[in-house]
Amino acid sequence: MEAKLIDGKEIARKTRMEIAEKVLKLKDEGITPGLAVILVGNNQASKLYVKNKEKACKELGLNSFMIEYPESLSEKELLDKISELNQDNKVHGILVQLPLPSHIEEKKIIEAITPSKDVDGFHPISIGRMMTGQDTFYPCTPYGIMVMLKEMDIEPAGKHVVVVGRSNIVGKPAGQLFLNENATVTYCHSRTKDLKQFTKQADIIVSAVGKANFITADHVSQGAVVIDVGMNRDENGKLCGDVSFDEVKEKAGFITPVPGGVGPMTITMLMYNTMKAASNASKMQHA
Ligand code: GUN
Repeated sequence: MEAKLIDGKEIARKTRMEIAEKVLKLKDEGITPGLAVILVGNNQASKLYVKNKEKACKELGLNSFMIEYPESLSEKELLDKISELNQDNKVHGILVQLPLPSHIEEKKIIEAITPSKDVDGFHPISIGRMMTGQDTFYPCTPYGIMVMLKEMDIEPAGKHVVVVGRSNIVGKPAGQLFLNENATVTYCHSRTKDLKQFTKQADIIVSAVGKANFITADHVSQGAVVIDVGMNRDENGKLCGDVSFDEVKEKAGFITPVPGGVGPMTITMLMYNTMKAASNASKMQHA
């Protein structure tokens, strides 16, 4: 039996419609959610991501403020800009596109963003709140995965989730969100010995590694849910994930495609977080 496809594009479309409705309500109250996106340098992938964020803002009725700097921008100049955006009440969310040039310390930049505008959910305060189950902004890709599973009626409680990859952006927060939903979580990474031994025990596999054909059919048990966060190019230059899709789909119960899986959910949840930041700001005003 072939795996059921988790259609990220369709789930993103539906979620975006719900967000657009909430944006309309905020506009009725005189608040247009605004997202500031800062891009430093010439990374081609980053440029595309940033453009897609701007497009999504337009589609959902949010204001976007795109700020582009040359590679030579100093850390101080970037910190000053963030400080200005922190004070600007038209801006509800601030996103600094990563990676940054090596002369700028990412940690310092992330910590400069005021947590109430941290729509990426990368600030240590946001992460601490997530770990302790408080209301906060969740990192967009892991949050998107949780929304997809909910839409598919896949319940994480009691399941064994194996997360492959331990980045701050995806792997670590994904494991935490699953733990918050009462899953049993195993983290695997580049130093894990005998990866298959772990992934074969998984009810749900989340792969965020960045290597084409990394997860093959013999990593996966019959009927498992396979979430592919990879964004790679195969030998023909075609976009693909971490999972050998054609063979794994014969064994898995559910699988996300690449493209059209997790990808469309990431920007969707960024829009959600920005709408929520604006809504929080509005409540503060009326309190
Ligand atoms: N670079 C790759 N993914 C992301 C993301 O989710 N947020 C930011 N700010 N940069 C990224």
